Amino acid sequence: MIGDKMAKSISQQITRELYSAYLYVGMSAYADGIGLKGVANWFFVQMQEEMVHAYKFYAYVNQQGGKVSLGGIDKPTQDFTSVKDAFKKTLEHERTVTANINQLMAQAKEEKDAATEILLQWYVTEQIEEEANPTEILQKLNLAGEGNGLFLIDAELAKRTFVVPAGVQVGYAPAAVA
Ligand code: FEO
Repeated sequence: MIGDKMAKSISQQITRELYSAYLYVGMSAYADGIGLKGVANWFFVQMQEEMVHAYKFYAYVNQQGGKVSLGGIDKPTQDFTSVKDAFKKTLEHERTVTANINQLMAQAKEEKDAATEILLQWYVTEQIEEEANPTEILQKLNLAGEGNGLFLIDAELAKRTFVVPAGVQVGYAPAAVA
């Protein structure tokens, strides 16, 4: 069982995760447009991960017998001045998502909702990686700069593959029976 207030807050986060996917598919399209297929691949995988984040929240609310109420998804920015700019915006965005997750965790603690706390611990851990990845890429971009260095980074980012996280079953999650 999940409270209405918590189901609503998680629903807002589902919308934010879907916005994240939308943002990253836009970044992927930007990278494709300038011929950096590896960067485009990295952002495409990032989009797939965001869909999993949204799905995991969705399945949880459904299984807990809560109501999933979806909001509108804003148009993401597609104006980037460079690959570095896209990764800077990625890091900024992920820091915002971390703050959202922390806010949800505070709400779960306040409501003494242990099950949601356990769920959110997965996201807390995930956000460490979500911030670390663009930070590391930005460091490399700062070191390598443009030109040949950028092509080396592009080749590295081409290797990223999407893997469904352990413990997450992607598929229809039936609602709890009342
Ligand atoms: Fe779903 Fe990138 O956080």
